[in-house]
Amino acid sequence: MTFASFQIDTRQRLEHHLSGLLQQPVATRLVEAMRYSLLDGGKRLRPTLVRATADSFGALPDSWLHPASALEMMHVYSLIHDDLPAMDDDDLRRGKATNHRAFDEATAILAGDALQSLAYEHLSQAPELSADTRLAMISTLARQAGHEGMVAGQMLDLQAEGQQLGLDDLARIHRLKTGALIESALNLGALCTNTPLSTKVRSALTTFGQALGLAFQITDDILDVTADTATLGKPQGSDAALNKSTYVQLLGLDGARHEARQQTEAALTVLDQLGINHDSPLRALTGYVLSRDH
Ligand code: IPE
Ligand code: IPE
Ligand code: MG
Ligand code: MG
Ligand code: MG
Repeated sequence: MTFASFQIDTRQRLEHHLSGLLQQPVATRLVEAMRYSLLDGGKRLRPTLVRATADSFGALPDSWLHPASALEMMHVYSLIHDDLPAMDDDDLRRGKATNHRAFDEATAILAGDALQSLAYEHLSQAPELSADTRLAMISTLARQAGHEGMVAGQMLDLQAEGQQLGLDDLARIHRLKTGALIESALNLGALCTNTPLSTKVRSALTTFGQALGLAFQITDDILDVTADTATLGKPQGSDAALNKSTYVQLLGLDGARHEARQQTEAALTVLDQLGINHDSPLRALTGYVLSRDH
């Protein structure tokens, strides 16, 4: 399968699976808001990473679907909350009105909360995965999404608005707010083999995930300046408007591009060390993180 067809196939299977969920709403408006943000949109990078990693580690063919869906739910919850007026206050996401614009703030907060719960519930029910594996996945995701991971990064990102950060502090924020869920994708994918991760593999995945996560967020900072709103599906210039600390603000466009390339090369070196072969979609995904246009 070429990488392009791998991406399309993953997106289609993921979306088919997600659209079958949430069929019997208890609170109709809440579920409408959850479905509004979960379906029809996004690059689905994290689910694709889960599947690519699962394949590279020799997992059963369909074992990626539940973990990938859970991670996408977590990501979508983070986007809904990231766009709220109390955070980045954005009006457009994935080419349509942000959740709080299409519904209202309270509904958007609750839809995010409920997507987070659903992610864990979904992992706890993943077929083809042992009870030990489900628990390891829940534990990994909880750590990487929470107060030592994505949420910590979001807090530090907000506190840094209007401040002049050094490169190390900015890299730390980027690794937490974005890198942590990318790392989760790799851990969930590798755990699909139903085998605990060795210390060596865990540490290689951490190094790979941090480099890839950083390259991904630096590229997000670059696109915030260079792309247009229609292509991005979210407002261009949002970072500057909020006085965010970004790689572009700190290093300029060329400096940021150079740093993103360096991080991508570091990530590819880890794949070499892990013996991931050259036609693996993991390699193509690493290149895609840098070359994407939205
Ligand atoms: C956006 O993530 C938020 C960041 C962590 C930079 P994506 O660029 O993966 O957003 P979607 O899922 O494609 O909409
Ligand atoms: C968001 O970073 C990271 C998370 C949602 C966890 P950004 O604020 O840069 O993401 P965009 O640019 O709004 O997608
Ligand atoms: Mg933000
Ligand atoms: Mg934002
Ligand atoms: Mg951004």
